[in-house]
Amino acid sequence: MSSEPKQRIFSGVQPTGQPHLGNYLGAFRNWARLQSDYDAIYCIVDLHAMTVEYNPADLEAARIDTARVLLALGIDPERSLLYTQSQVSGHAELAWILSTLMPMGVLNRMTQFKDKTTAGHASNLGLYSYPVLMAADILLHRANLVPVGDDQRQHLEVTRDVAERFNNRFGEVFPIPEAYIPETSARVMSLTDPTAKMSKSHSQPKASISILDDPDVIRKRIKSAVTDSDPVVRYDTQAKPGISNLLEIMAACTDRSIDDLVEEYADGGYGPFKMAVAEAVVEELAPVKAAYNALKNGDVREVLRESGRKARELSVGYQAEVYKAVGIKGY
Ligand code: TRP
Repeated sequence: MSSEPKQRIFSGVQPTGQPHLGNYLGAFRNWARLQSDYDAIYCIVDLHAMTVEYNPADLEAARIDTARVLLALGIDPERSLLYTQSQVSGHAELAWILSTLMPMGVLNRMTQFKDKTTAGHASNLGLYSYPVLMAADILLHRANLVPVGDDQRQHLEVTRDVAERFNNRFGEVFPIPEAYIPETSARVMSLTDPTAKMSKSHSQPKASISILDDPDVIRKRIKSAVTDSDPVVRYDTQAKPGISNLLEIMAACTDRSIDDLVEEYADGGYGPFKMAVAEAVVEELAPVKAAYNALKNGDVREVLRESGRKARELSVGYQAEVYKAVGIKGY
């Protein structure tokens, strides 16, 4: 057996509602799988959630629910940490120090800030410096790998950049983290517009499947998924984005290859194929839903408390190195 220490992975999720099938197959299922090979820290980023309008009365329920979903889909607090960002003051403290190294010009290029303000969110300083806090999340824990979606690549580049600036100025404190997009992460598209990514849209509930949806809802949604009029099941994202998306979903849920599925379903017509896809999704999500229902909020709080305590302990040691490097001494 090798005694090499495991590499550390860190990722964060905002406490915003039930994840959909795209979040699950694209990200969270991998978070659970990665636990066997990596030292994993997962953080519910409530301080980030405050950068856009939110209701204080709803935040606690959202934090607990997000943790409950993550535990249900297999995050194991015996092996990994799962806590909320605000429990560990090191996140905000390190963000301040990193902000002194962050050129405004870099932040001015952030597409997510532009997207959010264009979408009508008020432009506050926190929203603008969002990437600095995200860099602090990752660097606080000296993460090597960061499982993130494509939309976070730019923020990860900023994280690497600010880590290098810090190391050049103050000495080698931070490992330079890398984005990590596991091969098994599926790219799930909208069921009503398969050229766009699946997202939570209240105006288009039929576009997505929540991971806690009832089997009948799942079946209905897949059955009504937009496809095309050529009746052959084959993979072609240009000509047949709807069918390709369903193939992708089924492959991810069954761990079978797309070729293998095409061979079985090519000529059987869309009806039976869609039914098979729906059953695969129902089967994949059933244990998550059962585990979610079995968990009590009190148990979830206990996990957060304990993980938060461990994360705080770790961070205090790490932050001492940072303070020493920047010339701040404790008394
Ligand atoms: N910005 C990420 C998102 O919206 C969430 C996040 C915050 C994060 N801090 C992080 C992701 C650190 C990875 C690592 O998805």
